[in-house]
Amino acid sequence: MDDPAHIEPLFTSDEIGARLDGLAHDIAKTMPQDFVAVAILKGSFIFAADLIRALTAHGLNPEVDFMTLGSYGTGTTSSGTVSLLRDAEVDVHGREVLLIDDILDSGRTLTFARAHMMAKGTKAVRTCVLLDKTKGRAGAIPPDFFGFDSPPAFVVGYGMDHAHKYRGLPFVAILKA
Ligand code: IMP
Ligand code: MG
Repeated sequence: MDDPAHIEPLFTSDEIGARLDGLAHDIAKTMPQDFVAVAILKGSFIFAADLIRALTAHGLNPEVDFMTLGSYGTGTTSSGTVSLLRDAEVDVHGREVLLIDDILDSGRTLTFARAHMMAKGTKAVRTCVLLDKTKGRAGAIPPDFFGFDSPPAFVVGYGMDHAHKYRGLPFVAILKA
């Protein structure tokens, strides 16, 4: 599994950088000046760091917080149950929230996070993911903002892991069996 032959680049760091700028432009047109960005750990940490700096470059100054959700364990398929491991601290009552995650797949993680935020009395909750695996999937709830459509493969890099490894790759890659 550590053999580089198992890694097939999907999106280069240059492609990601260029897309981030477009994404930040779209978010800046939609979100108010005063909003809360909540990154869902751990997979989104590098994407969120780059996106939030791109948002700043586009004139936004959100409050930034983090929540940790779990569902995957160390395998490549979801356990199907999402659990709240650590909540965000910012008071989101009456606020507009942008949830930031790495990948939208089954949608369970973002559905859980959205419901959790709305239960706190948020004014609105929007979602932003780097990769959307749901294209063409019946019943999928689309993200408000996304970086790229992704094939239905297991991907790593740019913060995304397999068994806690590969997060440091500067690009997104498909992990082959
Ligand atoms: P969902 O709940 O099925 O939408 O899955 C989304 C969560 O599962 C994301 O927050 C990711 O952390 C994780 N995930 C889904 N697909 C992958 C993948 O291909 N590589 C790494 N993590 C993934
Ligand atoms: Mg995740």
